[in-house]
Amino acid sequence: MTTTIAPTKQSKSFKSHRGSYWITTFGCQMNKADSERMSGILQTMGYELAEEELKADLVLYNTCTIRDNAEQKVYSYLGRQARRKKSDPNLKIIIAGCLAQQEGETLLRRVPEVDLVMGPQHANRLETLLNQVDNGHQVLATDEQYIYEDIATARRESAICGWVNIIYGCNERCTYCVVPSVRGKEQSRTPQAIKHEIEELARIGYKEITLLGQNIDAYGRDFKAYEFNKSGQLTLSYLLEYIHDIEGIERIRFATSHPRYFTKELIDVCAKLPKVCEHFHIPVQSGSNKILKNMGRGYTVQTYKEIVNYIKQIMPDSSITSDAIVAFPGETRDEFEETLSLIEDVKFDLVNTAAYSPRPNTPAALWPNQLSEKIKIDRLREINNLVEKTAKKRNLRYKDSLQEILVESINSKDNSQLLGRTRTNRLTFFPKASIDSKSPQPGELVNIKINEIRPFSLTGSLL
Ligand code: SAH
Ligand code: SF4
Ligand code: F3S
Repeated sequence: MTTTIAPTKQSKSFKSHRGSYWITTFGCQMNKADSERMSGILQTMGYELAEEELKADLVLYNTCTIRDNAEQKVYSYLGRQARRKKSDPNLKIIIAGCLAQQEGETLLRRVPEVDLVMGPQHANRLETLLNQVDNGHQVLATDEQYIYEDIATARRESAICGWVNIIYGCNERCTYCVVPSVRGKEQSRTPQAIKHEIEELARIGYKEITLLGQNIDAYGRDFKAYEFNKSGQLTLSYLLEYIHDIEGIERIRFATSHPRYFTKELIDVCAKLPKVCEHFHIPVQSGSNKILKNMGRGYTVQTYKEIVNYIKQIMPDSSITSDAIVAFPGETRDEFEETLSLIEDVKFDLVNTAAYSPRPNTPAALWPNQLSEKIKIDRLREINNLVEKTAKKRNLRYKDSLQEILVESINSKDNSQLLGRTRTNRLTFFPKASIDSKSPQPGELVNIKINEIRPFSLTGSLL
């Protein structure tokens, strides 16, 4: 079965027409960035984007395994494609990403219809791996890889905001977390390669970049003697200065920060550099020192608060978001309440919450003091109620204020509106001008007067 999609103008420069492809991405920004690169590779190979998942000739699931429910979702999607393959033997099924790395051969055994299982470190090698599939092999690519610089141009979702990986992998050993075992050792990209990628993005009209890493504060520590700053160490602070002045880029963000390595120097640099936005995502995970210790996080609630207080002191308008895990093994009611109090104390703009989920190859999964499903559900509900209330209260500071918004697109749920974000990363909606030609275009910075506040977004009008 082939889907007939009219060849696009672009496709003339492609090698050949191979059929259509579909990518579904689960998980975090890291996976989204990998999917964009793999999408770029497929397009240069001659594949075209399919109109629907169930009609594509090649289906790629870029998977996540951070919690059990993320994993189960992938299996249910996969079942559908495996059934489709019975009537369409030419269908190619690829499982990429973190679950692929974790399960490896088991996945091939469990779903023999799959053609290629590839870990996240192999994303740039998609073409080579697919050629092996085309030669009739079922391919497993989960061995540790040095990640070479991209040869393919990513096909990005947004034409305004781009993700730029600066460090792959994670060398931390948080006792609950599967990431180090699926994403491998830390590997920083050179400042030159990063700058080059951002310059290219700026050249084609991108206005905002988000630097990505699972533990972004670790950037550069795998480069031994880098003669870049006084200490001879390459750091995120150095990198921010190094890329700051690229013409055309208006905003710079970065994620995810680890409280253990978040330095005063970094905060000072952020405050000094005008393009670096006042939004900091610093996962705290718990408000209890005992739980933090058992998680292996390497900081205390007090040191966390010192970081946040320093940010608030020198950038009073900044927004601070976080992640928290409830019902970690052995968490008492009191310890859970310490997390609730921390949320009230810090007044986070947003907290992503999750109930602890035991993961393969992680120490905490083997501990005997696991909590019941009921406690997990109850604590999650309780913390979510608080987060919603706190976020809404925190949002009140925007009421009637004037915010600089970078216009990203039309609101797909309401064509009469445009959407963008504040510097603090709040999603903001506002009506288009009544005459289309007078409306701001994606990529423009506009001033919006905020008149409506919801817990997770704002609405305003053009000044
Ligand atoms: N590198 C980041 C977070 C990576 S994972 C950091 O160090 O904070 C994203 C979030 O998923 C984590 O912050 C954590 O809150 C959550 N998470 C990770 N493992 C989990 C698990 N086993 N159960 C529940 N939540 C988990
Ligand atoms: Fe996981 Fe900890 Fe690494 Fe974050 S820092 S990715 S939570 S091991
Ligand atoms: Fe999931 Fe892998 Fe990201 S496990 S959260 S996709 S690093």
